[in-house]
Amino acid sequence: MCPQCEFFYAKETSPMYMAKSKTVFVCNECGYESSKWLGKCPACNSWNSFYEQKVVETKSKGISQSDGKIATPQALNSYEAKETIRTHTGFNELDRVLGGGLVKGSLVLLGGEPGIGKSTLILQICDKIKGDGKVLYVSGEESAEQIKLRADRLGISNEDILFLGETNIELVNQAIINVNPKLVIIDSIQTMYSEEITAAAGSVSQVREITSQVMRVCKSKGITTIIIGHVTKEGNIAGPRVLEHMVDTVLYLEGERYFSYRILRGVKNRFGSTNEIGMFEMKDKGMCEIDNPSDILISEREDNPSGSCIIATMEGTRPLLVELQALTSQTIFGYPRRTANGIDYNRLTLLIAVLEKKAGLMLNSQDVYLNVVSGLKVNEPAADLGIMMVTASSFKNIPIPKDMIILGEVGLTGEVRRINMIEKRVKEAEKLGFKTCLIPESNKKDLKDNYKLDIIGIKDVNEAMKKIGLK
Ligand code: TYD
Ligand code: MG
Repeated sequence: MCPQCEFFYAKETSPMYMAKSKTVFVCNECGYESSKWLGKCPACNSWNSFYEQKVVETKSKGISQSDGKIATPQALNSYEAKETIRTHTGFNELDRVLGGGLVKGSLVLLGGEPGIGKSTLILQICDKIKGDGKVLYVSGEESAEQIKLRADRLGISNEDILFLGETNIELVNQAIINVNPKLVIIDSIQTMYSEEITAAAGSVSQVREITSQVMRVCKSKGITTIIIGHVTKEGNIAGPRVLEHMVDTVLYLEGERYFSYRILRGVKNRFGSTNEIGMFEMKDKGMCEIDNPSDILISEREDNPSGSCIIATMEGTRPLLVELQALTSQTIFGYPRRTANGIDYNRLTLLIAVLEKKAGLMLNSQDVYLNVVSGLKVNEPAADLGIMMVTASSFKNIPIPKDMIILGEVGLTGEVRRINMIEKRVKEAEKLGFKTCLIPESNKKDLKDNYKLDIIGIKDVNEAMKKIGLK
């Protein structure tokens, strides 16, 4: 059906037509409804954003229809807030990310790429978690034998862990009600399905329905729930915003699959801050906490390298520290080459032009290679100053101090401009043990807290070069 065409549009959304269909397709981004799935939303133009939703029939008799009951609002002050009861997970790093432990009755979503170690971490938590009651581990991915093998490998032998290999959420809910455990694990949300929805397991409508069903059961009984979800290639848990707004806490486990370090990040937390990260190492006996993460990041780098620096980039609302590397070498003949790996090529040539004109670096006979270590892509202007300083550092063969972090956008006149979310970036640098932070002068007023690291405001490129010792 052509969504542009008036006639069909009117027919599609007419009440008569809606009454017949049991499900409706809703745009994830703007809430536009259609009776058919559409690739592109005609209202907000986003692609692939439609998901199936059940139409719940409501009686439309008027105002007071709920069997004579009347809803009466009360003064907010007349309510008393209950203390949140937290249980320790056995991992200090995880407790910190959660804001002090798992809150009783909360719903936590743990996302991460397949094979990153989610099931391993959760199984370890099942064993270590304090408090009375059973733990119910529901897996739709692995059999009881596989989980037992993993438990043996991790040295876990705990009477309180119950296992259920089931993918039908209605049966799972029944089991939760019967067992009444203190903690429920759903591994993973993408393998579960509800009979009430025709869409395939893992589709947005299924994922949404299952989460709301589990939430209803567990919240009414005060059972803590951890839902495991695999992330898609773009880094979203299937059904991007749908799940994140439903749950209380969203955690992501990140890391390179063939590299043993893992970062646990709080993306949303109704019971704590989201600035915390937890670091783990995947060993042969499962996940181990890392107490001093800065050591690892710094030890990965060369001792005193020229042409290397660390910047803080934002991935959505998440700060991430990445290493930039640059290499300049004499052009043998012809045109100087510029190679940008992980940043925009045009941005690199522009920044080199500013370096030549405003900082007087003669790069017109130099090949410049720039690389973002670990294959990450950095697409934001906040990396500008870092890119320029790392290029200058390689050209002059002078290293940038390794405990320094460089932030700032650079304009065409060489001025260092304000960047967004400065506080999150600086907090991340502080968390990872950096000592000095070069930031745009105009951002200084945004930083209200006291930080453990030296914060230096920079007005232009030349000032930055002098502070680092490149001039
Ligand atoms: P897993 O927890 O199954 O990942 P996910 O649930 O996120 O898909 O982890 C699988 C990987 O972890 C696998 O490659 C093997 C490795 N691993 C260890 O290195 N040490 C261990 O003790 C365990 C149990 C797994
Ligand atoms: Mg798993």
